[in-house]
Amino acid sequence: MTEEVAEPVIRIDHRGPLHGTVRVPGAKNSVLKLMAATVLADGEFHLDNVPEIVDVDIMSGLLRSIGSQVDAGSDGSLRITHSGELSTRVPADLAGRMRASINLLGPLVSRVGKIEIALPGGDDFGLRPIDMHIAGLEAMGATCRFSDGVLSVNAPRLFGADIRFSFPSVGATENLVTAAVCADGVTTIDGAAREPEVADLCRFLVAMGAQIEGIGESTLRITGVPHRALHSASHRVVPDRIQAATYIASVAVAGGEVDMIDAQQNDMQMFLHRCTEMGLVFTDLDGIGVRVTAPERLRSVDVQTLPYPGVATDYKPLMIAMLSVADGSAVVTENLYPGRFRYVDELQALGANIKMHEHHAEITGVQRLSGAAVTAHDIRAGAALVVAGLAADGVTTISGVGHIDRGYDDLVGRLREVGVGVTRG
Ligand code: EPU
Repeated sequence: MTEEVAEPVIRIDHRGPLHGTVRVPGAKNSVLKLMAATVLADGEFHLDNVPEIVDVDIMSGLLRSIGSQVDAGSDGSLRITHSGELSTRVPADLAGRMRASINLLGPLVSRVGKIEIALPGGDDFGLRPIDMHIAGLEAMGATCRFSDGVLSVNAPRLFGADIRFSFPSVGATENLVTAAVCADGVTTIDGAAREPEVADLCRFLVAMGAQIEGIGESTLRITGVPHRALHSASHRVVPDRIQAATYIASVAVAGGEVDMIDAQQNDMQMFLHRCTEMGLVFTDLDGIGVRVTAPERLRSVDVQTLPYPGVATDYKPLMIAMLSVADGSAVVTENLYPGRFRYVDELQALGANIKMHEHHAEITGVQRLSGAAVTAHDIRAGAALVVAGLAADGVTTISGVGHIDRGYDDLVGRLREVGVGVTRG
């Protein structure tokens, strides 16, 4: 007889302000790209500040499946070793489980000259094409072909190219930078994504011996170096601005004052600006983090998502949860993924007053939400439901916790540390 394993749920029964300290873990959207980039060179790589999340396990599995060795330390470190031949076939079951599997494209094509990879999975918020990745690789001399959901890329040699993006895609910038590191000649990417995680990847590549100018700017210039000029490197993963924002949103709706160690204010300026307009106060903790103090009641502000340095689409579900209990009405506009509103029904089930008009959400704040059983459909939606649960009377039960585990390092434990009545079972 097989025993049924109950799906985990997060249960929130909370009232009252939060106090204490949260340490912000390393960023999912950086570490996964750093892990993929190690493929470019042989040797033993060390990453620190690695978050304990399921997506890191998936990327570890992907690297092992192509012949790399990955060892996790107990202290948030990861050792990745490559030596000799790597496979060019990425298993579909693993690749299909997360978006960042596509980040193996640039490094593997550069190192081995070809790759076969199933189209990436990840959060389901509408179409997520990879045409810009493909067009860039083709401009560098690669041949790309799709068949039965598998992308095959062939490029015995890659050549420097002038690439101009019509939109600053994070993933395409990362893939083309890594592909360009050892291409013949100079590659320029105009209109590149400027997210802190892209800059973190570029700094790591430079530590490996790459030549990249314009890091953090919208024009990147990569001068190709021979593969033999690259070497292994050690790197500390940049702290996660979206996890940091989740704890800020938690304090915002529950009240209180929390010190957020390792939160990088420079990486989240527009988000902090909007939060300040909503009434939150941020105090710098001598460069080691930031203190967040909640107002008596939040004020409503309009928000629209934009590529960095604008307000990231990943903050949006958190902001809608905050606005659900703010004074007044606000409109939140999604400019990156028009379909990224699947959590709105769930917030409404908790009593939020939200009206949808295409890719705009109109939120009128209520005094308190009320607990109910809801389901997370993606990572940030899950985090937003947790935040909403902190603003609800009664018990909120969240299922779909597997999504949250993909990107949050011990969310429940960290919230408990600052006094939240939350359990996982
Ligand atoms: N796009 C194209 N063609 C392409 C690439 C992108 O049309 O070839 C479009 C997308 O459809 C979308 C927009 O450009 O409308 C943004 O896509 P982008 O490539 O910038 O995003 P991504 O690399 O797929 C990363 C993060 C997302 C985050 C976005 C935007 C990772 C693994 N994912 O996705 O994070 O929302 O950038 O900042 O880094 C999350 O962590 O919860 C998450 C979804």
